[in-house]
Parts: sequence; C-alpha cells; structure tokens
Amino acid sequence: MRKVALLAAAAAVIMSCTEKQESLDALASRVFSTAVDQCKVLGAATPDDGIANSYDHLGKHKKSDITDWVSGFFPGTCWLVYEHTGNEEIKALAEKTTLKLASLPEPGMVTHHDIGFMVNCSYGNALRVTGDQSYRQTIIDAAGKLCERFSPTVGCIMSWNPNAKWQYPVIIDNMMNLEILCNATKLSGDKSFEEVALTHARTTIKNHFRPDFSTWHVVSYVPETGEIEAKNTAQGLNDDSAWARGQAWGLYGYTMMYRETGEADFLAQAENIARYLLGRLPEDGIPYWDFDCPLIPDTFRDSSAGAIMASAFVELSTFTKDVALADKCLKMAEKQIRTLASDEYLAAPGKNGGFLLRHGVGHLPANSQIDVPLSYGDYYFLEAISRYIAL
Ligand code: GLY
Repeated sequence: MRKVALLAAAAAVIMSCTEKQESLDALASRVFSTAVDQCKVLGAATPDDGIANSYDHLGKHKKSDITDWVSGFFPGTCWLVYEHTGNEEIKALAEKTTLKLASLPEPGMVTHHDIGFMVNCSYGNALRVTGDQSYRQTIIDAAGKLCERFSPTVGCIMSWNPNAKWQYPVIIDNMMNLEILCNATKLSGDKSFEEVALTHARTTIKNHFRPDFSTWHVVSYVPETGEIEAKNTAQGLNDDSAWARGQAWGLYGYTMMYRETGEADFLAQAENIARYLLGRLPEDGIPYWDFDCPLIPDTFRDSSAGAIMASAFVELSTFTKDVALADKCLKMAEKQIRTLASDEYLAAPGKNGGFLLRHGVGHLPANSQIDVPLSYGDYYFLEAISRYIAL
C-alpha cells in the first residue's frame, strides 16, 4: 500500500515537472499572440509626429521624434510580429510607422550615427519581410548618410557630434549601425559601404575592449591624428565598469559582422565577449544595468540588455566551432528568453502601455527611463525568439 502511494507520488512529481516546462514553440505562440494585442495598443498611442518609445511610472508614454535613435524599433517590432503571425492589421501598422521615417536620409536630418538602427529595423525589415523593392533605395541612402560620418584617419564612424568633453566620440553601440552598411552593399553592389563597416569594426576591436573582453562605452579620438583622446562611460556606472547594454551591443555587433563578412577575427571577438558574459550573468540570465554596480542584487535589471544578448547568443551558437561554447550560448539564450517570457517581465495584454517587456533601464546616471519598458527591448526579445525557434 505504502509502495503504491510512493509510486503515485513519484508519478505526480514527474508529470508536474514535464507539465511545467513550456515548449519554446508554445512560448513563442504565447508571446507573439500577446505582441499582436500590444502592438495595437501601442499603435493607438503612437503620436502622428513621432514614436512612443517608453511608458513611465505615472502611466504616460514617452514620445520620441523620428530623428531619435529609437524610431525604427516599433516599426521593426510590427514587422517581426507580422512575419510570425500574418496579422494584416499589424502589417498595416508596420507599413504606416515605417513610412514615418521617409524623410530621414535627407541632408541635415541625422546628427548622430543611429540612422543604421532606425532605417535597418524599419525599412530593412520591411524589405526583408515583404520583398517590396520600394523600400530599397532608402536603405542605400541612409547608408550613404552614415558613411559621411566616417574618417579614414580615425578608422571609425563618429557616433555623437563633437562636444565640450569629446572631439570624436565613438560608442560601442555604433557596432549595431554597421549592419545597414553591409545590407546596402548587398542591395547596391557598392563595396564601399562594407569597407567602412570593416574598418570601423577592426578599429573598435583594437581600441574599445579591455583585456577581459568587457568594453568601454565611449572611446574618443583626436580627429587630426586618430590618436585616442579618452576612454569613458556615458550610460554606465563609471569609466571602468561594464555597462550591461554596451556589452550586449558588442556581442551582437561582432556576431553580426562575422555573419556579414566571414572575417575570423570578428567571430573570435564575439566568442571572447560571450565567454566574459557567460561568466558574469546572474542565474536567471538577465543582467543588472551595470555588471559592476556595487548595489547588486539591490539594483535594477535591464531587460533590454538581456533581450539583445539572447538574440546574439542564439546566432553565435550557430557560428562558433567551439561546441561547448555553442551549447552554453544556446542554454543561456533559452534561459534569458524563458525569464523574459515569465510574469515577472512580460506584460499582460493591454497593460504596460502596449509594450511587451517590463524592467528596462535607459540611462540610469541621467536618472532617465529606469525600470520601464523600452521599445528596443521588445524588438530584440521578439528577434531572439524568432531566431531560437528557427534553429
Ligand atoms: N544607443 C543608446 C543606448 O543603448 O541606450
């Protein structure tokens, strides 16, 4: 009798264990179904003359102008949701919000380097998902504008304009803007775009990384000589700390550049960044806003950094020949995706101002956008899931 009861209890434990683990396909259906609802809410809250980028603690949307670096993420999110669900209402929203950026490549419109993020996430996805060639020229024009910020003397694209502190600031985030250059070369046959991307990525390997493969946020150069002027942070804890999203941009950037160019040094760089991150990420995979914040665990997570890393880890796992590393990257990506898809991070439909993820950190030292949803977190979260289930 006792034996039967024990066997029944064991069977119940096994069943509840197997029931507990949702399959990644089921998780994807659940998240993309929520994303359809959220895109509709956010679409309705989107102002005619801009994009809603975040949602504050008082329940108000943060509006961004189309020249802001974030303007491509909501259109991009809509394209990913349409691609996964075929929902025509979301496609219409994707088209409408993409075309808002139509004036961006005009001279004088972009005073920073982020036209790559803006146009590649919107127009780049529009072309990729629909094949509609009317999106093509804007991508090439935007790449041309980005190249105007490149100096052969420095070997980098200038990220922000010169200011009182820096003459030629280059931020690690800039690695992400190289994707549009590679895309423009494929679309136009003009190799000069990719040449700029290659040079920027090689210079950044040389100057932006510490011996442990963590990265500075800002490296500033002397424009006349290309010498290094300063190594600092803007959004991290301090100059020597590892700002979480910066590390994520580095991982994603070098993985992407290896995909686009096949250059072995880029793969090695991505692998080394991955090893560094795998050694530092917390148990649930979602980094605190800066790896070196002394207040950990009593400080804020940055869900956007977790989402960007998850997407990059999935892709890197398909490139690296280090089988053990590939396995660790994929396991980490799965953990990050599962954590972000849990009630702790994923909004209930209709809540969170129409954003998917909670708990992102925009710019903590500036006391801006702390523990809020962020449009880029949602974009890379959906990309991570799409990449994972396509393996
Ligand atoms: N590129 C700006 C940021 O990551 O916050």
